[in-house]
Amino acid sequence: MYGNHDTETALVPDEGDSERQAEFDALIADDQRIEPRDWMPDAYRRTLIRQVAQHAHSEIIGMQPEGNWITRAPSLRRKAILIAKVQDEGGHGLYLYSACETLGVDREDLLDRLHGGRQKYSSIFNYPALTWADVGAIGWLVDGAAIMNQVALCRCSYGPYARAMIRICKEESFHQRQGFEILHTLAHGTPAQKEMAQDAVNRFWAPALMMFGPPDDASPHSAQSMAWGIKRFSNDELRQRFVDMSVPQAEVLGLSLPDPDLRWNDERGHYDSGELDWDEFARVISGDGPCNAQRMSRRIRAHEDGAWVREAAQAYAAKQAARTLEVAAS
Ligand code: 3HC
Repeated sequence: MYGNHDTETALVPDEGDSERQAEFDALIADDQRIEPRDWMPDAYRRTLIRQVAQHAHSEIIGMQPEGNWITRAPSLRRKAILIAKVQDEGGHGLYLYSACETLGVDREDLLDRLHGGRQKYSSIFNYPALTWADVGAIGWLVDGAAIMNQVALCRCSYGPYARAMIRICKEESFHQRQGFEILHTLAHGTPAQKEMAQDAVNRFWAPALMMFGPPDDASPHSAQSMAWGIKRFSNDELRQRFVDMSVPQAEVLGLSLPDPDLRWNDERGHYDSGELDWDEFARVISGDGPCNAQRMSRRIRAHEDGAWVREAAQAYAAKQAARTLEVAAS
């Protein structure tokens, strides 16, 4: 229903590799890291390529909604903070493409798959950033949800991915705090500013919850990813943790969360929340969201506009390599 199911087979030995499969299984069972030099089942490699590439795609597409507000930031301080954040997201994409390349794939090929619609990016970035308060809601909710997901990925069984996450999470916490500060300023400003902040939270709350993926019983990849130690918690578990964390934060902000069914459940020790619109989710991840076409055309144009930079860098690298060989041969 939601994705490509050709990436995994159950934890069964690869043909003729049963000894190495047993070694791999023992490493996973012992909660050890798998490194690029280690043997791994093709299905494990394919799952990581799928997830890490889509994570990287999300980071670079995610630069667009906030990047559109850099020239319209309300002060030099906000502009400087926003420039730093958007620049960070580009860097996160680079870390993750690099981590993905350790699995034997080529970055250009991954970008072709993104541009050709054969790989996804996070649904959240297909929603428009309509007001300055949206920059705050994106920081507080979107980066907050990303942190919830990415802290768990710091313990992912694949070494390069886990290590990239540790660096990314440090920067994400700044992203989340600056968003919270924007919303707190607006929510404690004029009535019009408070209304703008509330409107942004109303529009971003449900899409932020969808970032954690479909419900566990509709997630084709989760069980296998958890068996391999790629995922440490299920989609619903992380979503629940995020809801439990966000409710008291919204109270501090003085803003309400747009869910009439949101209430503390003493028995569960968690907040109960209303059903999300999974038909909307399915539409957005299949390309029919509010901004999918705009995000992709802008991404492809940016890639084309940047071709000369890549060519120049490659020509310079080739020249340097040739000079190094000359010196070594002389
Ligand atoms: N947006 C787009 N696609 C989604 C999605 C979402 N929010 N949630 C799930 N999907 C897709 C999956 O990719 C899969 O499709 P595929 O087979 O074509 O790849 C399908 O829906 C089924 O979902 P599953 O839950 O079975 O898939 P996963 O086990 O891969 O779980 C996930 C989905 C939780 C997003 C997991 O892939 C993950 O943890 N990814 C890493 C984190 C990530 O990508 N975050 C994106 C946001 S990055 C960001 O926010 C930047 C920050 O700086 C703001």
